[in-house]
Amino acid sequence: MRRGGPSWLSMTEMTEQAPVTQATATKVAALPDAQTVTSVQHYTDRLFAFRVTRPQSLRFRSGEFVMIGLIGDNGKPLLRAYSIASPSWDDELEFYSIKVPDGPLTSKLQHIQPGDEIILRPKPVGTLVHDALLPGKRIYFFSTGTGFAPFASLLRDPQTYEDYDEVIITHTCREVAELTYGRELIESIRNDELLTELIGEENLAKLRYYPTTTREESPKMGRITTLIETGELFTDLGVPPLDPAHDRAMICGSLAFNIDVKALLEKAGLREGANSDPKEFVVEKAFVGDGI
Ligand code: FAD
Ligand code: A2P
Repeated sequence: MRRGGPSWLSMTEMTEQAPVTQATATKVAALPDAQTVTSVQHYTDRLFAFRVTRPQSLRFRSGEFVMIGLIGDNGKPLLRAYSIASPSWDDELEFYSIKVPDGPLTSKLQHIQPGDEIILRPKPVGTLVHDALLPGKRIYFFSTGTGFAPFASLLRDPQTYEDYDEVIITHTCREVAELTYGRELIESIRNDELLTELIGEENLAKLRYYPTTTREESPKMGRITTLIETGELFTDLGVPPLDPAHDRAMICGSLAFNIDVKALLEKAGLREGANSDPKEFVVEKAFVGDGI
């Protein structure tokens, strides 16, 4: 089973429209841990998503990340951490990526086409997993930017809905177009026949999507931290304020975002957990940087 809307450039279309060159195929055959790109979709000049074949032996928990990359100019693997955006049951692996103009990896990775190969080290790890949380009633996924990626995995995992009565995903971006990947994913969960069947209609009713923008007008504006502090988030959703007895959370965004959301959760009495020590919330950086 695969997700990839009509505008995803697939391997078949690629073969018909622009066959992979012999040069690409030769270069690619030398890659260690190679996986083949099956589809690519660009969202903005800063964001794209792609799918690759899944190594048969790769087992992972929805929400985990792996190291992926390409061969660098020096002939050595150039690898970066990437959240797996597809759920653990999917035949393929999906990634949702930034394009950093001068970024060593993404300045190249943004040009991949179906049929190309990437390196994928099959050693999944990460803290954004159900095992790191104590049982609860309601789960919040707080994300900004590409921090949506691990939740794209968890939102397509039936366990998420089996474990909780309510599943709330917040996604904050500067501009409306940056919300597209997340919005389309939520639409596909709600409308895709196979996904609906897998997750179950009654479970899908638990899903609440709360997108916000901060620098372009949209139906809901503001940083999620502000919306938590003012209580607007809870009023909008019709749920009680954060309560450690019932609420669980996962956070994924920039370091500054993670620090600020974490402080608000701790103020409400939630404690940070880990794989080895499950508690009320877990955090993972969507990227390293910011100069912080
Ligand atoms: P780098 O040299 O790695 O980064 C250059 C600068 O670009 C950074 O200093 C930072 O300021 C900025 N930057 C890097 N990544 C991002 C980003 N995602 N969003 C906004 N600004 C960024 N990236 C993804 O695109 N998708 C993912 O699913 C993803 N998962 C990650 C999971 C973990 C645990 C970590 C630590 C990082 C993850 N990243 C993800 C970031 C990724 O590892 C790379 O940093 C990114 O692909 C850019 O690589 P680069 O070599 O082009 O530039
Ligand atoms: P803002 O536009 O007010 O900075 P970035 O692209 O800088 O990573 O930000 C992605 C989104 O996350 C933006 O909407 C940004 O809002 C918001 N954001 C950035 N830092 C924080 C933070 N510390 N707390 C809450 N939201 C943040």
